[in-house]
Amino acid sequence: MSPSSEVATTLQVSLEERSYPIHIAPGLISRADCLVPYLAGRQVMIVSDDNVAPLYLEALTSALPDGLDVRELVLPAGEQRKNLACVERIWTALLEAGFNRRCTLVALGGGVIGDMVGFAAACYQRGVAFIQVPTTLLAQVDSSVGGKTGVNHPLGKNMIGAFWQPRTVLIDTNSLSTLPPRELSAGLAEVIKYGLIRDAPFLAWLEEHMTALRALDPQALVHAIERSCRLKAEIVAEDETEQGVRALLNLGHTFGHAIETHQGYGSWLHGEAVGTGMLMAAELSHRLGWLDDQQVRRVEAVITSAGLPLAAPADMGADDFLAVMRLDKKNLDDRLRLILLEQLGNACVHDQTPGETLHQLLDDFPRNT
Ligand code: NAD
Ligand code: GLY
Repeated sequence: MSPSSEVATTLQVSLEERSYPIHIAPGLISRADCLVPYLAGRQVMIVSDDNVAPLYLEALTSALPDGLDVRELVLPAGEQRKNLACVERIWTALLEAGFNRRCTLVALGGGVIGDMVGFAAACYQRGVAFIQVPTTLLAQVDSSVGGKTGVNHPLGKNMIGAFWQPRTVLIDTNSLSTLPPRELSAGLAEVIKYGLIRDAPFLAWLEEHMTALRALDPQALVHAIERSCRLKAEIVAEDETEQGVRALLNLGHTFGHAIETHQGYGSWLHGEAVGTGMLMAAELSHRLGWLDDQQVRRVEAVITSAGLPLAAPADMGADDFLAVMRLDKKNLDDRLRLILLEQLGNACVHDQTPGETLHQLLDDFPRNT
């Protein structure tokens, strides 16, 4: 069943028996009719964080019909809490509530909550239903779609996890009204990513509409979210478990994860690290003879206009980057695999970057002063 005509858009992630809809509309959190058809049974555990719960938990729970056994769990917010200890709290709450295999977990929050709740659902009694209700721009355009779930390890970002698809994604665009501007910018990094890897006209649209997006213009936001989700849904449908094209979604992430891991989770926001990482990837693409200088300056300009940092951390040398990058999940047979840009709007997986070229880039790239 799909929600009524007030819904702005519904997209589909096509994965045979694991297919699911993404609903995008203002006010969806208070619209129980959207959520109810995707529940596996009566038992529902809504998991949120302590920033999001005071804003939206009541609206979500009060919209659910009587007759359900609804429990709530509020976890501490923050990337540094994306760990197994928090996932264990979810499992403990489920067991204490006596929840069985027909329960449904609902993730109400940003990418940290979504990734942890998805992972908890993937493992609880060998797999139960879950629903994504993303409340950050980053989660709405990226992490809630595609079924990558998991937690960080002190030695590497997102190193423990599983592919586990949600039953639906409910994107309430109104929730962005309470998002701090720094978090909005972090989400814009992932939006820019789609333009850079696969959609040059969308990149040009973003260059024109960045001011409107940062001012939360509703039409601009819906367009950016819809276009991003459509591109992600296409890629995931093609390559659910990242055997090929899905790796392109990691543009900027190999450099970005190195920043996040080295700096300590939460010091740089994920989207901020990805923004700087995308500029590093563009600069490396230039040194390999693919992008010209003007194209790199375009990447720099769009990242700046989103309010994202351009320089890497002052205390990170080339060897600090390389130490974390060697652990990247994309690497095969000890070869570093990087996502680079052949053109703006056309990314590739590259495992032939000469070591000296990469080292030189990491040495030369601007640092925070
Ligand atoms: P987040 O979940 O930490 O949320 C950012 C902050 O905003 C938190 O403090 C949160 O409490 C707060 N917040 C959330 N919604 C709010 C709202 N509507 N109003 C006010 N405050 C709100 O961070 P994020 O940027 O959403 O997600 C980052 C995480 O997502 C990272 O761990 C990253 O690895 C992961 N990620 C996963 C995928 C995937 O495919 N699974 C893709 C991209 C990123
Ligand atoms: N954010 C990367 C992916 O979903 O594959």
